Amino acid sequence: MLFKALKKNKERDIDLENLPKHIGVIMDGNGRWAKKRGLPRSAGHKAGAESLKKIVTEANNLGVKYITVYAFSTENWKRPKAEVDYLMDLLMDYLINAEKTLAGENVRIRAIGSRKELSEEMRKQIKKTEELTKDRSGIVMNIALNYGGREELVHSAKKIAEAVRNGKMAPEDITEKEIEDGLYTAGQPDVDLLIRTSGEQRLSNFMLWQVSYAEMVFVHKLWPDFKPKDLIECIKIYQGRGRRFGGI
Ligand code: FPP
Repeated sequence: MLFKALKKNKERDIDLENLPKHIGVIMDGNGRWAKKRGLPRSAGHKAGAESLKKIVTEANNLGVKYITVYAFSTENWKRPKAEVDYLMDLLMDYLINAEKTLAGENVRIRAIGSRKELSEEMRKQIKKTEELTKDRSGIVMNIALNYGGREELVHSAKKIAEAVRNGKMAPEDITEKEIEDGLYTAGQPDVDLLIRTSGEQRLSNFMLWQVSYAEMVFVHKLWPDFKPKDLIECIKIYQGRGRRFGGI
């Protein structure tokens, strides 16, 4: 009996020495969560934002160094204007309150994605939040906002082309490093663990370069139902996988 209990406890544990350094999250299913409850989609996004706070706190407490969350894709502009406006308001609130809500937790906040399509107000707030949190030593939280993996690669290619045009670089000098340096996540490690909720099994243009060797975990729960214990489960699944990076 005792042995069984001990074993069970051990099974529940995660190996803190073998944590994913960078976790990517596709927070899917807010709309379905709301629909199931007869609520407007906005209620699902609000609940999703609450869920996110708990997950970032848990990841930070565990010692994960980077988390990137897909908050608004370059394709999400196609949604009804009221929903887009609501998501933008939610993101704005999140950035404004980041100082208060995540202050004790030492979270460094960054936004990744194309900024020129965002409102002036949002661009200013992003700068402010990034500046206010830049010296923190805890987890780095990248909020993917007006983000698309293809757009990011185009952005990187343009930077390289510009350097070549200015004679600062020759085409032969272009390596993976130059492409990486032009990504919004330059200087950060690749994604080790990618989690997508709601049962969908797609990348949806998320971090196409950075997930090249990521372990992918697809969870049936809808994002607002995803709890810190589910994050632990995903990390355990990750730790149970044999990563070979193309080797044997
Ligand atoms: C996908 O669910 C989710 C989104 C497009 C937005 C994600 C946003 C949040 C979790 C909240 C805001 C984020 C921050 C950082 C404050 P869906 O709407 O596509 O759901 P469905 O597939 O069930 O319709």
